[in-house]
Amino acid sequence: PHLSKPRGPMWQRLGAPWNKVLLFFPTFILLLPLLLQLLLLLLLLLLLLILAFFINNLTNLFLNVTSFTVSTCSSVAQCDEDWELNGTQCYYFSNRSLQLTWTSSKDKCQSKRGDLIKIESREEQVQDTLNRGKLDERFWIGLTDSQTEGEWLWTDGSPLNQSLEFWTKNEHNTEPDNWKEEDVDGENCAIIGEIMFINGLKSWYDNSCKNKYRFICEKKATRSATCG
Ligand SMILES: *[C@@H]1O[C@H](CO)[C@@H](O)[C@H](O)[C@H]1NC(C)=O
Ligand SMILES: *[C@@H]1O[C@H](CO)[C@@H](O)[C@H](O)[C@H]1NC(C)=O
Ligand SMILES: *[C@@H]1O[C@H](CO)[C@@H](O)[C@H](O)[C@H]1NC(C)=O
Ligand SMILES: *[C@@H]1O[C@H](CO)[C@@H](O)[C@H](O)[C@H]1NC(C)=O
Repeated sequence: PHLSKPRGPMWQRLGAPWNKVLLFFPTFILLLPLLLQLLLLLLLLLLLLILAFFINNLTNLFLNVTSFTVSTCSSVAQCDEDWELNGTQCYYFSNRSLQLTWTSSKDKCQSKRGDLIKIESREEQVQDTLNRGKLDERFWIGLTDSQTEGEWLWTDGSPLNQSLEFWTKNEHNTEPDNWKEEDVDGENCAIIGEIMFINGLKSWYDNSCKNKYRFICEKKATRSATCG
């Protein structure tokens, strides 16, 4: 084989930029441990940064979870459309174009998953009588004595609490009077309101169950958690 004369070292044969690089190489090897240390330091910094990011995120998550349960979430009482919320109860006041007999009113309320109103406190009485009755409105309430004359029962079968009855008593009317001139069966269903009957909190009177009036339904408000 024809062996050519060895030429000078490779870096001598290469162009100007390359010989500089190759000259640098031995120096680079000498510096390698230092560079490695630097690289390690950089890696460590990066790791710390990543760790810090995670910790920050974890703190965020923790804070989010805390605020989520402590302040952002709350249980809210709600009523269906057309029902009015007061406290824990929802009320439906039928309008003038929806006037029914007492029994049909009760059926209507029950078809709306409620019942005719049962007045169980002075607050409930104030809210429903004085606020509506002053407008000269009258409404059926869930009180009847059609089973036994004079024994007033709510639609759930519970008797009327003597200390929570609001029958009208004034110079013109002492209710209930079971007036028989309009209906021979007498008056066995209770109405709330109508300004001439309102005397303080007292605003109930009995009427013929066959008459058609507006009515008030009641049901428990639904509770739902809202978070925002
Ligand atoms: C914490 O909540 C904020 C604001 O709602 C949101 O931008 C962030 O992504 C949440 N952080 C985590 C870790 O879920
Ligand atoms: C009265 O109530 C009925 C039944 O809820 C409803 O369909 C009707 O639109 C109401 N009328 C008025 C004038 O509000
Ligand atoms: C509930 O009824 C009471 C008593 O009438 C009244 O003071 C209050 O404002 C009502 N609350 C609502 C949310 O309507
Ligand atoms: C009747 O109402 C009064 C006053 O709200 C109450 O203290 C009492 O417990 C009630 N009685 C019955 C049997 O529910």
